[in-house]
Amino acid sequence: MMRKMGIIKRSLAMVTGLLCAGVFSASAGEIPATLDINLQASCPTISGLPKDKKMVKDFSHKAHAEKYLLGNEKYSPVPYTDEFTCVACHAGAKDANSITKDLVCKGFETAFEHEGGAKKFQNHFHKTCKACHKAMKKDGKATGPVSCKGCHKK
Ligand code: HEC
Ligand code: HEC
Ligand code: HEC
Repeated sequence: MMRKMGIIKRSLAMVTGLLCAGVFSASAGEIPATLDINLQASCPTISGLPKDKKMVKDFSHKAHAEKYLLGNEKYSPVPYTDEFTCVACHAGAKDANSITKDLVCKGFETAFEHEGGAKKFQNHFHKTCKACHKAMKKDGKATGPVSCKGCHKK
């Protein structure tokens, strides 16, 4: 009986976890644990994005924000601090609580402008994400993938 309750509790926790990660959009101040990076689908307000070819599934969003970036500022092409890691990926963010989905999309749009527009958006991600993994790897640190398949798993 006790065991059965445990299983029910655990599956309830799992369902809640899944709902939080995916179905409901996060409101300001919340940090989604994982998310699929697919700007074409999540930011329709950005005009001129090319058709989706390769999204990044199950990106460990919260772990990056609260763990992976800590102490690794020198490897990131975009400046941030351990106290405010969000700004490494969210241009224009003033503090964690101010980050809404609208601001996320506006931030990316601004960042893409520096790469020559929305059509070149993959350059932005390859610079900000891959470049950090590359620099850390070169320095012998545990880090994320640098191979295409590491980020773009079918
Ligand atoms: C390493 C990069 C990175 C860091 C650091 C980061 N984020 Fe994000 N975040 C992203 C990406 C990429 C997306 C958009 C993915 C998509 O929807 O295509 C996103 C999306 C979001 C969203 C929108 C979620 C939704 O509803 O679609 C919120 C809110 C957010 N981030 C908050 C934060 C906060 C708060 C922090 C800091 C504590 C943070 N992020 C740190 C990369 C990052
Ligand atoms: C400050 C450097 C830095 C930046 C910027 C960064 N990462 Fe990472 N990434 C890491 C580190 C550190 C790890 C985890 C290494 C470990 O296993 O301890 C990691 C792990 C990963 C993993 C492997 C899965 C996991 O959770 O361990 C993926 C996939 C990944 N990163 C994708 C991305 C994407 C996509 C972006 C940009 C939106 C990004 N990273 C930006 C440092 C970075
Ligand atoms: C560190 C993670 C990472 C690595 C490694 C990486 N990419 Fe990407 N790439 C991304 C992210 C994040 C995006 C933005 C995805 C989106 O919003 O659709 C992206 C976007 C793209 C796009 C445009 C996607 C689209 O939807 O139109 C292409 C094409 C692409 N990458 C190819 C590659 C190839 C080829 C390699 C290997 C040489 C590679 N990537 C390595 C993270 C990575």
